[in-house]
Amino acid sequence: MTLFKILKMFRHTLQSGPEYTRYVIAEVLTRFIYKPYKFSEFGRVFLNDAGFLRYHDRYVSKNNYRSLDRKYTLDQLMKLAIKVPGDTAECGAYQGASSFLICQRIAGLKKKHHVFDSFEGLSAPSTEDGSYWTKGDLTTDEQLIRDRLKSYNFVAYHKGWIPDTFQHVQSKAFCFVHIDVDLFQPTLDSLRFFYPKMNVRGVILCDDYGFSTCPGAKKAMDIFFGTKNEPIIHLTTGQGLVIKST
Ligand SMILES: C[S@@+](CC[C@H](N)C(=O)[O-])C[C@H]1O[C@@H](n2cnc3c(N)ncnc32)[C@H](O)[C@@H]1O
Repeated sequence: MTLFKILKMFRHTLQSGPEYTRYVIAEVLTRFIYKPYKFSEFGRVFLNDAGFLRYHDRYVSKNNYRSLDRKYTLDQLMKLAIKVPGDTAECGAYQGASSFLICQRIAGLKKKHHVFDSFEGLSAPSTEDGSYWTKGDLTTDEQLIRDRLKSYNFVAYHKGWIPDTFQHVQSKAFCFVHIDVDLFQPTLDSLRFFYPKMNVRGVILCDDYGFSTCPGAKKAMDIFFGTKNEPIIHLTTGQGLVIKST
């Protein structure tokens, strides 16, 4: 067999060979190109969840396209949260991709969803935050999230800097809080404010916990929960999960 024929067969396998064979080839090539990456098990069915993939294509911004697993995890955790009394909140909502999932799950349940964002991007990073982020990163137009969530009439928008805007919900209790502000100080401020307002079995999910780009968010979680009963569950998606126990 000539080299040309072998290459042709290989190309055919890459393009239309059995799925598992292509998966193994991708794994071997990846090991060669980027060794630290570890493929997960073949055949995880959530990757073929057509409805969820449609949501992700439509609502997740191009600069956050690697968040499919985190969005899926958030959506699944909402199944726990909706069993608990209280409202939901997102600290750092950007264009509303996660808030959309939260709203979908609480629609019809007489809960409110509270959106907290400067819409002027990140606040100034501190020494805990490393060098990845700059003040003003992720600035976006508030109208985008308002358009995206327009069919949900139970959303309250709290535009401004965290923690100043938290005073608007001083008297509320919560079943789910998503903290996604990338930085040390607003993560710590969010925990200090929301933790005492979480009902038992309420869910706190920090999107940034396990990422080398967000050392400040991890530090804030570790400091805060270092003196609490609840463990932080470090999910393989990079999220940090806490379930309020008392
Ligand atoms: C990574 S984005 C959030 C993404 C969003 N959770 C999603 O799932 O699409 C981070 C957001 O945090 C907001 N933010 C960061 N620091 C803030 C602060 N101190 N006060 C208010 N908003 C802040 C930014 O404006 C930005 O929209």
